[in-house]
Amino acid sequence: MPEEKKNLQEAPANRISIYSKIPFLIAIAVVICAVFTTGIAYSILSVVGSRAQYVEGELVDGVREFNISSLQWDYDPAALKVEPGDTVRFIVTSDDIMHGFAINELGINLALKPDVGVSQEMVIPEDMPSGVYTMYCSIFCGIGHPYMKGAMLVGEPGFEVSKILPYIATAIMAGMFTAFIIIGRRKAK
Ligand code: CUA
Repeated sequence: MPEEKKNLQEAPANRISIYSKIPFLIAIAVVICAVFTTGIAYSILSVVGSRAQYVEGELVDGVREFNISSLQWDYDPAALKVEPGDTVRFIVTSDDIMHGFAINELGINLALKPDVGVSQEMVIPEDMPSGVYTMYCSIFCGIGHPYMKGAMLVGEPGFEVSKILPYIATAIMAGMFTAFIIIGRRKAK
């Protein structure tokens, strides 16, 4: 009978020993948290493209001209600013391999061969709503292809949710991390 009691007491003692490694678990959780948060923040920022200063192009005979180079996996410049009613000319080249250059709302989709400039002139519709539009690579070009994006700002920027989204993502991750630690501690008791 005393032996049986001893066995019952030893079982929880073994379980507690896992949680004595809490500093190690915290270190792992922090690394995972950092990787996820950076990934989420980066993909949100590249989708909506608020990371760069907007470039207004160069006026050439009344046409707003943008010289854009593309490379794995970005555009240079990656953020353009236009006004409704502007006549614009996109001159796009690829510095390395095949890329695309597309803006859905303007119906533009160019295929870019290495070192060959492609020029497209168009008018930004007068009634195009102000806001940030995504320009993106439309030809598969490797592992970074889904993130090869830029932004075209039409008119004046309003409140950009994109600027606070990464912070919300970070707060959610930090909250989850704290919750896991608290749950872990409670189970240990
Ligand atoms: Cu560049 Cu896909």
